[in-house]
Amino acid sequence: MDELVRSGVRWGATHGAMRLALRARARGGNSDAQVLVAPALRTDPYPHYERLRTATPFTDGALARISVHHDVCTDVLRSEDFGQIGGFQTERLPSVFRLALRLAGARPGVSPIDPPSMVAVDPPAHTRYRRLVSRAFSARAVAGLRERTREIADELLDGLEDEAAAHGGQVDLVARYASLLPVTVISEMLGVPVAMREQFLAWGDRAAPVLDLGLDWSTHREVERSIVELDAWWRGHLQSLRRDPGTDMLSSLVTMVDEDGGGLTETELRATAALVVGAGFETTVNLIGNGVALLFAHPDQRRRLAEDPSLWPNAVDEVLRFDPPVQRTGRRARRHTTVHGVPVAEGEWLILLLAAANRDPRVFPDPHVFDVARANARDHLAFASGIHFCLGAALARMEGEVALQALFERFPSLRPAGSGHRRGTVVLRGHESLPAILGGQA
Ligand code: HEM
Repeated sequence: MDELVRSGVRWGATHGAMRLALRARARGGNSDAQVLVAPALRTDPYPHYERLRTATPFTDGALARISVHHDVCTDVLRSEDFGQIGGFQTERLPSVFRLALRLAGARPGVSPIDPPSMVAVDPPAHTRYRRLVSRAFSARAVAGLRERTREIADELLDGLEDEAAAHGGQVDLVARYASLLPVTVISEMLGVPVAMREQFLAWGDRAAPVLDLGLDWSTHREVERSIVELDAWWRGHLQSLRRDPGTDMLSSLVTMVDEDGGGLTETELRATAALVVGAGFETTVNLIGNGVALLFAHPDQRRRLAEDPSLWPNAVDEVLRFDPPVQRTGRRARRHTTVHGVPVAEGEWLILLLAAANRDPRVFPDPHVFDVARANARDHLAFASGIHFCLGAALARMEGEVALQALFERFPSLRPAGSGHRRGTVVLRGHESLPAILGGQA
């Protein structure tokens, strides 16, 4: 079968069929399905999430039961009765679709979100992959990167000034700042050539919808193409590191033999590298962008930060709580079990709406108020919980803090020039562009 036909069959049996199901659910009045199918509702999905806030632990989501409750989401994420969904679960599809998918074959290329990527697998494989990379992301390791991150921020801010001078004072804060800072930091950290950063961002943009369900055909095709291109690049890069290792984390992974004497296989290595680098910039760009937009919209909070800069770390957690870059995740029951008194069958999926759990009024008083001094802002679930708790949480917090503080302190009269555009993705929430006028320097 020709690769284009195979891709078409994969799309039809998964996203295509799901689109029809989602549309039917949305027409039937299901709020979750309505948010998933209507890009306009996603500009501000929070009022729609509130319609899912019933007294019961779960409510009917678009394709599975969904929870908006902080305690329920936390308990599922921490429970050994649940595992990762891990790519498309074909056993839930009608048999004709299963046959079609078998004929079409798996998605080509090693994807950062399918097994054997650590985010898609359960223990013991998960424990082994995570152990190999976790040291590089410890709070201590991240503290050592703060100074260099500040230098990178300052260099990018110099670039913003040049850009503004050439364009009547106007810049796009996403293209020239929020996206470049995380990709530069993670590239330097892992020994990926910094010259590749624009190419990585382009691949990342095209691949980001991979987390969503019910993609249209052309988006699905772009996702598959960019994953194949990215995977081919990783294959070459890891081969060259094997021939000529450096002192970076990827070189040590390539040459490492783990405790079992096995090291990582070539496929495991590519999945790990692609996940760590991809997760390292595709999400933090949205933290910085969402933070800028929230501070534009709340001048009183911006003033508080200018008066008391010690609030910056807490402000970053409040941004993560209020408008998290990863809106939802899911888990699959590994056995029959009960959650808050509700029976869940083996194989059932549960969707955990992290963004709504972050506005649970039982945990956060006045949850819809953006308050940079909120006492328990850090209790959000933006980084999930349990064994898959975000590996890069300390790095993301540090980058968010350095990036936002450096920007607003250098340009105290920074202001929006129009509203910019939101990204079209569902699971990942952020801005595609944020036009702004820099104003004078401090
Ligand atoms: C604001 C930025 C970020 C947010 C909101 C975020 C969010 C998340 C969430 C929600 C998960 C759990 C997914 C699940 O299990 O369903 C996760 C996992 C992960 N994140 Fe992040 N992340 C961010 C930044 C980063 C950075 C900078 C890195 C850098 C390496 C990173 C690497 C990872 C990895 C490797 C995992 C998988 C961990 C595992 O499966 O054990 N993330 N992240």
